Amino acid sequence: MQIISWQQFGLKTNPYDTLPLVDGGELSLEDAFIGRDHERKLLSSLFKSENNICLTVCGDTGVGKTSLANFQKFIWKQDKEKPLFSCRREIEASDTLLDKQNFLLEVIGSMLREIALVEPKLLTDPTLAKLNAIIDFTQMMSISGGISADVAGFGGGVNFSKERNTSSPIKLTTTSIEQHFLNLLGFIKTKTIGGRQYYGLVIHVNNFDVVLKDKNNKKKVISFFNEIRDILQTKDVYSLFLGPSDFYSQIIAPEQRVKSIFTRTPLVVKPLSKTEVVRAFEKRMELLKSKNVQQYIKPIDDEVVFRLHDLYHGDIRSIMTGIKDILGQCSDRVVQPLSMNEAMTLLGRERWERVSSDLSPGKQSILTFLVKNNKYISTKEASTILGKQSSNISGYYFKPLKDLGILEEKERKGKMVYFGLTDEYQPLKWWFESEIGVKKDISDTKIKQPTLFD
Ligand SMILES: Nc1ncnc2c1ncn2[C@@H]1O[C@H](COP(=O)(O)OP(=O)(O)OP(=O)(O)O)[C@@H](O)[C@H]1O
Ligand SMILES: [Mg+2]
Repeated sequence: MQIISWQQFGLKTNPYDTLPLVDGGELSLEDAFIGRDHERKLLSSLFKSENNICLTVCGDTGVGKTSLANFQKFIWKQDKEKPLFSCRREIEASDTLLDKQNFLLEVIGSMLREIALVEPKLLTDPTLAKLNAIIDFTQMMSISGGISADVAGFGGGVNFSKERNTSSPIKLTTTSIEQHFLNLLGFIKTKTIGGRQYYGLVIHVNNFDVVLKDKNNKKKVISFFNEIRDILQTKDVYSLFLGPSDFYSQIIAPEQRVKSIFTRTPLVVKPLSKTEVVRAFEKRMELLKSKNVQQYIKPIDDEVVFRLHDLYHGDIRSIMTGIKDILGQCSDRVVQPLSMNEAMTLLGRERWERVSSDLSPGKQSILTFLVKNNKYISTKEASTILGKQSSNISGYYFKPLKDLGILEEKERKGKMVYFGLTDEYQPLKWWFESEIGVKKDISDTKIKQPTLFD
């Protein structure tokens, strides 16, 4: 893997940065954001017509959920009729967040952080100063190995009079934290912050897919929504919960109490189209062009982006990582976009280099079979190729390859299980397929063929 010089393309820096687009990020959110007209119209009309919203934003990994939410918050912030306060840093769903008090403290903390960024002097206001002290205190408790989840478990409320900036003691109970939240909401609706008077608040909770990966958390997440239901119904509070494709159907819909307060249809975020993804990359390169460069050089052909789009089902993050893997293999200066054959060869080689040292000759034979044949491999076939007993194949060959993320179970016929390459390692096959084509359009010195096909 080489270090990629972006300057050779006439770019100041990496255009394939996989972070979500965010207000105040390196790329201007306004300029770099592509498409999503339909989703944005829907969000806008929903938020305009209601004074309280709970909405799930659902979609597969890396399709652009967080960026969409960030973009929409940025637009709402500046809305002429009904500007809504929001925090540029979203709240991350996590095990500890699944608790009403922690959730409220997190919301309060992120609002204060946003105010501190936009107009720090407001933090001297008594309401905010008091809240700041609470947040400081709870953070101190969780850092010192204490019990952030238990902060409000001090029964009827404990007085902490040591806090900075305030004169009255802090009482931490669920009810009191709820009251603090309402006070803060009142504050943002009545005061001017950064020259703006806000109408309401957007709460954006990100990444429920991470929490829900652990199947044991499903019940916890459902009961969390039951717990925070009343807060979510506060007037002028607009909540967005981002999660996997089945987030609404699995978590919200089954529980009538929760379902009744949520917008009936989740906002389903589909992958951007192939041409939109290409447009997004072009936009980034335009924005990141080096000084005095008239035209940047596109690192790869659009066709390659299309192919990666198919491979990763529109997951933009994986597409960008794939492109970086390709470019990291290219030792020569790129003077024109890499062709499909070149790119696929380089990507296949990258995948091979990544794992080849972990593979015994036997495992390599299994990969060679999959790369050269257009079919999956069964235990029986593997035992024939390797000259080993069927009973040894699963444990000694398939399992380690599965653990490395190279193979996955593809189908079962009766008792027979068939394995094939995962999406991530599919490029090994392209490497083989492009071998012939590549000889025509790439010099031998650029790519030396390692051993997989020997
Ligand atoms: N509409 C868009 N225009 C341009 N770039 C986008 C757009 N949507 C997403 N991206 C880019 O795609 C990548 C993935 O986007 P994002 O992180 O928003 O997806 P996600 O669905 O939230 O992912 P995850 O499932 O990992 O949370 C980011 O690098 C982001 O900058
Ligand atoms: Mg996200």
